[in-house]
Amino acid sequence: MRVINRIRYGEPKVLHLKEMEKLTPASNEVLIRNYASSVTLYDCWTRSGTAPPGFGLLSRLESGFRKPKQSIIGTEFAGKVEAVGKNVTKFKKDHEVYGFLPSGAYAEYLCLPEDATLAIKPATMTFDEAAVVPQGALTALYFLRKGNIQKKQRVLIIGASGGVGIFAVQIAKNLFECEVTGVCSTSKLELVKSLGADRVIDYIKEDYTVSNKKYDLILDTMGKSSVRKCKNLLNNEGFYLFTTFGMPKLFQILWFKLISRKKIVFGVLEDKPEDLVYLKDQIEAGNLKSVIDKRFLMEQAAEAHLYVESGQKKGQVVLYID
Ligand SMILES: NC(=O)c1ccc[n+]([C@@H]2O[C@H](COP(=O)([O-])OP(=O)(O)OC[C@H]3O[C@@H](n4cnc5c(N)ncnc54)[C@H](OP(=O)(O)O)[C@@H]3O)[C@@H](O)[C@H]2O)c1
Repeated sequence: MRVINRIRYGEPKVLHLKEMEKLTPASNEVLIRNYASSVTLYDCWTRSGTAPPGFGLLSRLESGFRKPKQSIIGTEFAGKVEAVGKNVTKFKKDHEVYGFLPSGAYAEYLCLPEDATLAIKPATMTFDEAAVVPQGALTALYFLRKGNIQKKQRVLIIGASGGVGIFAVQIAKNLFECEVTGVCSTSKLELVKSLGADRVIDYIKEDYTVSNKKYDLILDTMGKSSVRKCKNLLNNEGFYLFTTFGMPKLFQILWFKLISRKKIVFGVLEDKPEDLVYLKDQIEAGNLKSVIDKRFLMEQAAEAHLYVESGQKKGQVVLYID
């Protein structure tokens, strides 16, 4: 089977196509023929060994200090079940599935336990549309739930045009009928409006922290906001949510936790298969969509990484595995 492999951390050129022996599922595993994966910012950081940025060599404690423990990266995929182990009951051959895993999605075949974060693919989506859903949508759903999102609240989403932001805007608007304000750069205003945001703010031209408006939830997907300034935008019972942050921001977050009764949430997504099933239902009901900006072939993985790192992408990036 073909995979995108890397044996060291570094620039996109460390990614190269390699033939490997095809996997065989164990008794509790599902063998999936992968048709499409995505290329996310997280993949780029994993590839370069800098995830999350700002944490220096600390970030390598888990992923491998001198060289990566995992040679195949990629966290989301959509494909078809080719075979199942003898104890598998949830999935059958030819089921169309989509899923999320810590790494290994840049490969023609995946072997996953049946209780992994894996579900039947939304019937209304193509494989490439479904492949770019899990990471962003699961993360957005997890953090908005951590912020105890309620119907008709006021929500501010900073980084609204990214993989996480795209789904955060749609979940807040379409599933919770919230009043959503999205923050992004000039070229992405139309994209964020098209997702249903009630208001969009171009952070290049306008300081969104100078406002009398108060929010029940602030979700910062890139850890770019100033805790000191944004805390004044939150209601007293409000939640401030961070999906990522660098080291200096960690100190601001910890200080905020100490001195404020407003709540701040950060950490790592706990992904669950039942949430993928929930997202599938919402997609099929027409409440959520993916936004594909560009598609690359498997052999163009390095090019796809360069594109994602450039910050130009307007939506999500697909890596065709088939
Ligand atoms: N905690 C977890 O478990 C978890 C899970 C998944 C992902 N993550 C992390 O979440 C982060 C976001 O991922 P993603 O896939 O959404 O990345 P992405 O698709 O690259 O989106 C990031 C967005 O941030 C925007 N941005 C950049 N600078 C900004 C600024 N100063 N103010 C406002 N927006 C700004 C960019 O668009 P503009 O051009 O509009 O600025 C871009 O659209 C990554 O760090 C990822 O590792 C965390």
